[in-house]
Amino acid sequence: MNKTILFGPAVIVIRVAAFAAAEPPGGISQYWEKTCASCHGMEGKADTKAGRKIGAIDFTDPKNQEKFTDEQMFKAIKEGVKDKKGKFTMKPAENVNDEQIKSLVARVRAFKR
Ligand code: HEC
Repeated sequence: MNKTILFGPAVIVIRVAAFAAAEPPGGISQYWEKTCASCHGMEGKADTKAGRKIGAIDFTDPKNQEKFTDEQMFKAIKEGVKDKKGKFTMKPAENVNDEQIKSLVARVRAFKR
């Protein structure tokens, strides 16, 4: 019996599951649209009413991308961002694990022009 034929499909199933686990619920685009775009915009430009009001920055601007390390972005998504008075300007992301937060960091990096 050929082992590749036996184990091939199992390997594919595990790979798909691992990939899906790294994506936030509903997939990254849908999660971004539902949870992040109200402030950061669909294209990451923060060109929304809420984004302008709260002072979200344009993620397509390379200069703004340099302001944060991946670690800082990770922390911001996981723990939220507060203003000087300690009030949340961005709440911690819900229903995502660390792997899924990493894919959100990558999403934000991909907005850079
Ligand atoms: C209520 C508005 C709001 C929502 C919703 C929101 N953010 Fe933010 N976010 C901000 C503000 C304000 C900042 C701080 C200024 C800036 O960097 O744009 C920020 C900053 C960030 C930063 C930069 C890191 C840092 O230290 O400032 C990242 C990355 C980020 N947000 C990702 C996300 C992701 C991913 C989501 C969705 C899960 C999200 N944001 C949802 C308002 C929001």
